[in-house]
Amino acid sequence: MSRTSPLRKFRQAEELSKFALDVRQGLSQTQKEIPSQYLYDQVGTALFEAITYVPEYGLTRADERLLRRHAGAIVDHLPSPVAVAELGSGTGRKTRWILEALAKRQPVTYFPIDIAPTALAKCRQELAELAGVSIVGLEHSYVDGLRDVVSRRRDGQTLLVLFLGSTIGNFEPHAADRFLTDIRRCLLPGDALLLGTDLEKALSVVLPAYDDDAGVTAAFNLNVLARINRELHADFVLKNFRHEARYRARERRVEMHLRSTTRQTVRVRDADFTCSLQEGETIWTEACHKFRLEEIPAMATRSGFACTWQWVDADWPFAENLLIAMSHPN
Ligand code: AVI
Repeated sequence: MSRTSPLRKFRQAEELSKFALDVRQGLSQTQKEIPSQYLYDQVGTALFEAITYVPEYGLTRADERLLRRHAGAIVDHLPSPVAVAELGSGTGRKTRWILEALAKRQPVTYFPIDIAPTALAKCRQELAELAGVSIVGLEHSYVDGLRDVVSRRRDGQTLLVLFLGSTIGNFEPHAADRFLTDIRRCLLPGDALLLGTDLEKALSVVLPAYDDDAGVTAAFNLNVLARINRELHADFVLKNFRHEARYRARERRVEMHLRSTTRQTVRVRDADFTCSLQEGETIWTEACHKFRLEEIPAMATRSGFACTWQWVDADWPFAENLLIAMSHPN
């Protein structure tokens, strides 16, 4: 018997057609691109989880170190009682430190928000044994999920929203501002957003983080073509593409590309589309912005927050930023 609900099937069909349209549009541009959200199917999510363990990718370890060391100080800035919502819960591995610190002073409700039910299940499993924490997983996009949390909040509760791992760096700068403003609009003055941001660092450190020796990032990047083959019945030949990470100094971002190693034509059947690639041409798949510490208070102010505290890791330039919602959202 199928365990997929009719609503999920409908959503999958809807998603598929949007996926086909986005792929067709992205591959029709002069600089061909595939939106980075499509890197994260089940295989891509598992490969990203593996990236967080490769020696060259220090980002996740820095994020976790900061949360482990400073969770007490972070939660001390928030008036009790606090409910926690996390945008893109992942496995919940880093979040435990914040939840543990809060649970020392009060019972906590934790709302992980993720579009992927498997991520929510993993997160529930990882954090199940935490005393004093009740977990309410919400299978939603970030902003819809946050609206759901807000509709459940109790009088007098402070909301702490977590957006960790520097996922904000995967947005174009203007889209990041818009996204933070959307979050602010869901909140009340005094609510908080803990924002993880990867900082600028030496090229000799940042590039290997996106092109590791074991080839995990390469497999993660190439998987997007395999996903298009699986879900849109395309005929990408993966060995005709090579993973490439570049650093754009002016924009301060790493870009992931897939370089075509030969002149080729690819048919994407479900998008009713054929794409020609020259030898050496690339498909751009992701941008990972590297921040300057002083950029974050300015970004916070533009979106209706005040950046009140920043904690920076000593070994891998990365910052946790505590943003407090101001009285007047934009
Ligand atoms: C999810 N995000 C924060 C990762 C990053 O570092 O920008 C995605 C990633 N892409 C390749 N490696 C990691």
